[in-house]
Amino acid sequence: MAKYLHIHDTPQATAEALARFIDELADGRNQLTMAISGGSTPEPLFEVLATTYREKLPWSAIHLFWVDERMVPPDDAQSNYGRAKSLLVDRVAIPAENVHRIRGEANPVQEVNRYASEILSVVPKEGERSRFDLVLLGMGDDGHTASIFQGQLEWFDTDQLVAATVQPSSGQQRVGLTGAAINGADVVAFLVTGADKARLVAEIIQESGLAANYPAAQVQPLSGELHWFLDQAAASKLRLG
Ligand code: 6PG
Repeated sequence: MAKYLHIHDTPQATAEALARFIDELADGRNQLTMAISGGSTPEPLFEVLATTYREKLPWSAIHLFWVDERMVPPDDAQSNYGRAKSLLVDRVAIPAENVHRIRGEANPVQEVNRYASEILSVVPKEGERSRFDLVLLGMGDDGHTASIFQGQLEWFDTDQLVAATVQPSSGQQRVGLTGAAINGADVVAFLVTGADKARLVAEIIQESGLAANYPAAQVQPLSGELHWFLDQAAASKLRLG
């Protein structure tokens, strides 16, 4: 697995670098399937994509999926789709049929099956495996990624593309991609900023300590590339060179 580090001074510079990366990836393609994560880290990226790249990206070729969703209605402040809709989707010319949200208002078990079917109907396959062109991940300060939390590593050992999980401290129901979808991708890019994640970032990238226990450490694309987009603060405990 090829691993690439992209380290920039600030969260804004890191978001701009990731936007450039996405623009290069999309260049010349008639389809780009991209799954985005929620949380607050991607917000500067959504802002750059909705402004600087509003006219540059081939939005009609982009199929936007979500890595995961909190099982709440789209108008709930917790909704990953709701936040991305206002910051990005409503501000760019992406066709409505290219926006593939996880329906937070639905029954989680039913939504797992529905969303998996939508992925199977849109995302091209390589052999038997659905292969997203790009999966954008965040990482919690507890080492979770997507909606796979500590103690739920079985979701990196399944053929299922989508799973219903529970956020352990809040009990919040989630639906999100499993390791099969994430590690089957052509390119996986983490966007992680802030000093509070620096120790975990270093442990995971340098494969030291208890890294193996963290869901984010299980992100190992089977035949794709793994990119880490980090600001200086999140990269501050890395021993490079
Ligand atoms: C979610 C995300 C989740 C997120 C991390 C980091 O639904 O919360 O998909 O995996 O990427 O929790 O969140 P922050 O960016 O807010 O730190």
